[in-house]
Amino acid sequence: MIVERALLEWPLVVATIVIFGTTAFVLLSTGSGRDDLPAVVACVLPIWRLLAVVALLVSPFVLLNVTAEMATVSWTGAVPFVPEVLAQTHAGRVWEWFRPTALLLLLVAYIPLRQSIRARMLFVLAGVLLFLRALLSHAIDKGRLAVAVYLLHEIAAGLWVGALMVLWIVARRGNAPDIWIEGAARRVSKLAFWSVLAIMISGIYTAYNGLGFDLYHLLFSAYGRTLIAKVAVFAAVLTIGGYNRYWLVPQVSDSTARDRLLRNVEVESLILLFGVLGLATLLANTPPAHGPGGHAGQSMMAMFIGQPRRRTYETGFEHIGKFRRTYKK
Ligand code: HEM
Repeated sequence: MIVERALLEWPLVVATIVIFGTTAFVLLSTGSGRDDLPAVVACVLPIWRLLAVVALLVSPFVLLNVTAEMATVSWTGAVPFVPEVLAQTHAGRVWEWFRPTALLLLLVAYIPLRQSIRARMLFVLAGVLLFLRALLSHAIDKGRLAVAVYLLHEIAAGLWVGALMVLWIVARRGNAPDIWIEGAARRVSKLAFWSVLAIMISGIYTAYNGLGFDLYHLLFSAYGRTLIAKVAVFAAVLTIGGYNRYWLVPQVSDSTARDRLLRNVEVESLILLFGVLGLATLLANTPPAHGPGGHAGQSMMAMFIGQPRRRTYETGFEHIGKFRRTYKK
């Protein structure tokens, strides 16, 4: 059930992370005075459009799946419960914002617009979707700081993946001049360094919330083992990234080094998209082993006996009056 749910959500995670990260890198690397934005956007626009369609098409099925699990019924049996879940649960209230945002994302990807405005609007809308995903995550049980750190983790992941993908796509599909590839490679390397640092700090904090300082939970819980697998794949990508940064980027004006760098960037992007983001989605759908002061212990038992993601909490967003929810028992 957890794997099926993660498989269903993975395209949504990839769509939001990649649109956020690639629009951010396009805006960051084609700033003031540069005229290469339209050419760069022309290369990545088909990806933005495809992923916007994926986000809009997949999100209703994720909501239906969440409803089916809450009511412990089949997908068809869950349809009549959807309005109640939307009205009476935290997840439902968040999904009420998710769907129109995903629709807006699709419209902005397709309607005639100046490319710089389109990139900015897609960046903001994808950022909103990442925030909504953080509100749907385990971090919500730990309060505002945990949600903010979770969002930072997603943002840093998006910036790293997005930078690599824009360099790969524009170099491969855009016939970009060598001078553009050399400049972009240096910018990717700088952004990747800071993003990876932010990913590690926010990831360790979020892992601590899910596991506590508990080696037993890290080694023997499903959550701990999924996290270990994720960090192992991440470490492999980091090795390639380190070789790129300290060996190939300094020689990027040499054509052999440049070809090898682009090949490595392609491999890094694919491992991050399928390996790391796949395991991240599985982790986000696996009940946390336990964290200090949380409710996970009690609800963990409920989750292990097949009723995942039950939470009882108050979020601290009461003043907005939108996110205070208790799942129906
Ligand atoms: C030291 C390395 C890392 C650690 C310790 C770490 C830890 C975590 C933890 C604990 C979660 C929360 C899962 C939950 O909801 O309970 C998470 C989520 C996530 N991580 Fe990482 N992570 C690391 C590296 C990465 C990397 C390299 C990426 C991608 C480039 C990444 C992308 C994500 C994403 C997108 C989510 C949210 C998934 C979702 O919303 O479904 N993480 N990570």
